[in-house]
Amino acid sequence: MKDLLKIANLEIDFETRLGTVKAVRGVSLTVNAGDSVAVVGASGSGKTVLGRSMLGLVDEPGVVRGSIDFDGIEVVGASEAELTRVRGLGIGMVFQDALDGLNPVFSIGSQLSETLSVRLNMSRQEARTEALRLIAQVGIQNPEERFNNFPHQFSGGMRQRICIAMAIGLKPKILIADEPTTALDVTVQAGILRLIKKLQGETGMGLVFVTHDLAVARLISRRIVVMYAGKIVEEGLTEDIFQRPQHPYTRALLAAHPGRARSWRDLEPIPEAFVTDSSESGGAEAAHIPVSIPT
Ligand SMILES: Nc1ncnc2c1ncn2[C@@H]1O[C@H](COP(=O)(O)OP(=O)(O)O)[C@@H](O)[C@H]1O
Ligand SMILES: [Mg+2]
Repeated sequence: MKDLLKIANLEIDFETRLGTVKAVRGVSLTVNAGDSVAVVGASGSGKTVLGRSMLGLVDEPGVVRGSIDFDGIEVVGASEAELTRVRGLGIGMVFQDALDGLNPVFSIGSQLSETLSVRLNMSRQEARTEALRLIAQVGIQNPEERFNNFPHQFSGGMRQRICIAMAIGLKPKILIADEPTTALDVTVQAGILRLIKKLQGETGMGLVFVTHDLAVARLISRRIVVMYAGKIVEEGLTEDIFQRPQHPYTRALLAAHPGRARSWRDLEPIPEAFVTDSSESGGAEAAHIPVSIPT
């Protein structure tokens, strides 16, 4: 597998009135085409800052040192023109809150087709056809009808599906998903995770999946890196981490949730957890299955 994304000795500091926050401390990480890596850690461990830095999206007053090489482009210190090539087309991103990725005043179909025509130079007709295909691909029924709906007309889970459609529509080589199911009802989380996994298989894109939840990481990733206070404290194949966690912090993460589902097989539907929101009941979402109990 080819090294698509190679992060080396990454340091990200924020100078604040209270002193320097070292959000990322010496992280090195490689993501190959087709691979799936979960970045796991507690709140504040630097996962989001790390994920966003891969797109050159580090907020002021962040200072980035080290190297993020994406397919031959050095992201650290890159010009806006270079970053435009990386963002969306090279690396796609799905955020925790689907509303961050959608504009409330345009229909989802127009947003999708606008993105496709601007970024991929598609004609209006091509973009419309492709947008409809994507809407169906992410498991939304009646694409023709849904095309003209606005974001507020969708449930949270459906909005996240649309954001996923938006990201994969540009055929990125890598998808970064930052806690994409955390803001969702537990009953729709499994459907979104399955969708991401299915799309990764279909497209062969690399996946960087950020989560505070080791059970979710186990379902979605081949490899896990565990972050603690801005550092990678443990990394390895997902099953190895579960069988033989080395770092005390990883053990603590595992021990904190002994009753949690650890595989798809464990995720049998729990009748009380079924929801009645009919917009969530389509195809792939049929599994109204709690992934884990929120902490
Ligand atoms: N714009 C910012 N200014 C100052 N500190 C920040 C900023 N963004 C993030 N941080 C700090 O960086 C650390 C890592 O944050 P974050 O990556 O959001 O953690 P996680 O996603 O793992 O919960 C935290 O201590 C956070 O307060
Ligand atoms: Mg975060």
